[in-house]
Order: sequence, then C-alpha cells, then structure tokens
Amino acid sequence: MITEDELQKTKISFSYTISPAKNIICDLSAMIGNFCEETVGSFYPRKVSKKANIVITELLNNALENSNDSKSQIGIKLNVDEEQLSIKVINVVDQVQFEKVKAHVDKINSVENIRNLLRETILDRRKERLKGGLGLIRLVAENKFKLSVDYKKPYLIVESQYDLGGWN
Ligand SMILES: Nc1ncnc2c1ncn2[C@@H]1O[C@H](COP(=O)(O)OP(=O)(O)OP(=O)(O)O)[C@@H](O)[C@H]1O
Ligand SMILES: [Mg+2]
Repeated sequence: MITEDELQKTKISFSYTISPAKNIICDLSAMIGNFCEETVGSFYPRKVSKKANIVITELLNNALENSNDSKSQIGIKLNVDEEQLSIKVINVVDQVQFEKVKAHVDKINSVENIRNLLRETILDRRKERLKGGLGLIRLVAENKFKLSVDYKKPYLIVESQYDLGGWN
C-alpha cells in the first residue's frame, strides 16, 4: 500500500517544445496547464497541482503574447519533487525586451511588501487606463512563487519556483 507521504515524494518532469510559435492558434496554455494539473494532482495535493496550472497558464500566455520571433520555438519545462515545484517557460526575445522583463522581476523581488506593489500597480494602471501588467506580481503576491529570469541569447527563460519543503 502506497501512502500519501510516499506519493508526495514522486519525481515528475515534463518538457514541451513547439515551433514555430505562430502556429500556436489553440489555447495551448489552458491545455498544458490542465494536463499538468491533472498529472501532478495524481501524486501531490490539489493545492500544489492547482499552482502548476496557474503558473503554466500565466507564463505561457506571456511567452505567446510577447515572443519577438514568430518562427521560433516556445519551451515549457516542469519539474516537481518533494522539495519544489519548478516551471520554466522559454521564448525568443531581443535584448531590450529581456531588460524590460528583468527590470520588472528585479522590482518584484526587491520590494519589501509585494501586496503594496500589487495595490500601487493596480491604481497606477487604472489611472492611465492600461490593461494587464499584473500577472507576474500576482504570481508572487497571491501564490507565493519565487520568480527569476535568465537570458541565453536569444532565449528568455522565466522560472517560477514554489517550495514544498513544508508539506511532507
Ligand atoms: N515571456 C515573456 N517574453 C517577453 N516579454 C515578457 C514575457 N513575460 C513578461 N513579459 C513582459 O513583462 C510584462 C509584464 O508581464 P505580466 O505578466 O506581469 O503582465 P501582462 O502579461 O502585461 O498582463 P497580465 O498578465 O496582467 O494580463 C509584459 O507586458 C511583457 O512586456
Ligand atoms: Mg501576463
């Protein structure tokens, strides 16, 4: 008999790559998000599997909406074990776009109170009638994810990690 405790030590990894990005006309974020949620949820508590879906949906939507090169590849990597859930999304960007994302993530990681940043960003954007701009802040403020970015030219890698250490 396998215990819940043992199930929550299962190592799972997925990697998807799809190219060219312009051919992704289906709702890929929802499909992969839901698939990962079901699979991770067969081993880990729902709270963890739901998080996998939230991050994949957000990061993959960002990649699909902001890729610089429609002929390029989009990558998604998921790893989970008893310590951590990690999701990486990879897409092509130029140096300027990388710096924009890096500055945003640096800000998210440096503020003392992320909920204040969320509140201020909502107010600022409302004033200027801008849409969106909250996805990455929300991942950290509402879902307790850690965020990091890397640039392996021309690939931007946005990684989101969630510690499971306390679970088991
Ligand atoms: N994978 C990516 N590739 C290129 N640019 C990105 C990527 N992820 C984020 N960005 C840039 O960072 C900005 C902030 O992303 P964020 O997800 O926080 O907000 P948003 O996607 O604009 O709006 P929302 O998620 O609230 O709908 C984006 O508008 C985009 O310019
Ligand atoms: Mg977004």
